[in-house]
Amino acid sequence: MGKGLKSLVLAGTAVTAGYYLWQQLQGHTEMNHATFVKKYGPWAIVTGAAREEGLGYGFARQLAGHHINLVLVDIRADELEARAQELRARYHVNVKPVVLDLGRPDFLPELTAVTNDLEIGLLICNHMFLDEGTPAILDMDLATHHAMIDVNARGYTTLVYEYGRKMLSQGHGGIILVSSQAGLHGTAYTGAYSANKAFQLMLGESLWYELRQTNVDVLVLTPGLTRTQGDNLDDYPPFMLMDVEPVVRETLASLGKQHLVIPGPVNKIMQFAANHLMSREKAIVTSGDLMVQGLGK
Ligand SMILES: NC(=O)c1ccc[n+]([C@@H]2O[C@H](COP(=O)([O-])OP(=O)(O)OC[C@H]3O[C@@H](n4cnc5c(N)ncnc54)[C@H](OP(=O)(O)O)[C@@H]3O)[C@@H](O)[C@H]2O)c1
Repeated sequence: MGKGLKSLVLAGTAVTAGYYLWQQLQGHTEMNHATFVKKYGPWAIVTGAAREEGLGYGFARQLAGHHINLVLVDIRADELEARAQELRARYHVNVKPVVLDLGRPDFLPELTAVTNDLEIGLLICNHMFLDEGTPAILDMDLATHHAMIDVNARGYTTLVYEYGRKMLSQGHGGIILVSSQAGLHGTAYTGAYSANKAFQLMLGESLWYELRQTNVDVLVLTPGLTRTQGDNLDDYPPFMLMDVEPVVRETLASLGKQHLVIPGPVNKIMQFAANHLMSREKAIVTSGDLMVQGLGK
């Protein structure tokens, strides 16, 4: 192992150890259960919740642990039904799985048909669509660019608009937009995704300001690399990867307290470095180089 990589691994290990200590401390600052349910219950919508390893299902598990009932939305029918059954059996909550293509311009009436009689206290926009081949921007076909905008930008806007207005009239609620660190600056080889994620970030931050005097909280989550995709992330330095549970825990604990959550100390340090210790150009080059390594380009 080269000297530079060794230092990086040592620094990563030290930060990870500090992180576990910090997590323990953080547990004491979470909103108490009754207050959380009153503000963000009795029902939550979580999109992109079908995959067992995914962040959406991680949110669903922790919300079910608070006895919040769930509307789970995803395009993967069989997996969604399996997740719903697991949550009902384990947490004794009501779960309504809704199989829906959130990229369709007319998806909303099918969702509101399920939610109209429910008091939705929390919306988590978490679904995403990208071309898994991670082509360069000009190598990806235009139809895929447009489909990504429909799913990741139009879909988020539609959900936020519909349920944000409902929450305002019912007088309470929370909206979490799951963006990405890739939305904080241009990220090569996931360029279209990076642009979609920037859209979500700007939408969420602006909405946070507009609703900050109301009882509806808005929070943008920008995860870094998270273990949701099997061995797809194996080529990145391991200390950069986070598990789903701490990402979700920190996010739910941050709702109502801040507008943006960058989960975990490694992501925070990397973002601090990108914002304050290098030029924006250098930050784009560094993340591009990381993508080249991690994606094997
Ligand atoms: N994992 C990471 O390292 C990471 C890092 C930063 C940000 N994030 C963000 O975190 C969120 C969750 O990611 P994840 O890694 O947990 O991924 P995931 O489990 O794959 O979640 C995304 C889900 O959305 C579904 N979906 C795709 N197109 C849809 C559509 N048109 N309508 C409804 N559902 C659709 C996907 O189905 P298909 O699989 O069939 O497409 C998948 O089940 C995403 O917003 C992602 O951008 C993840």
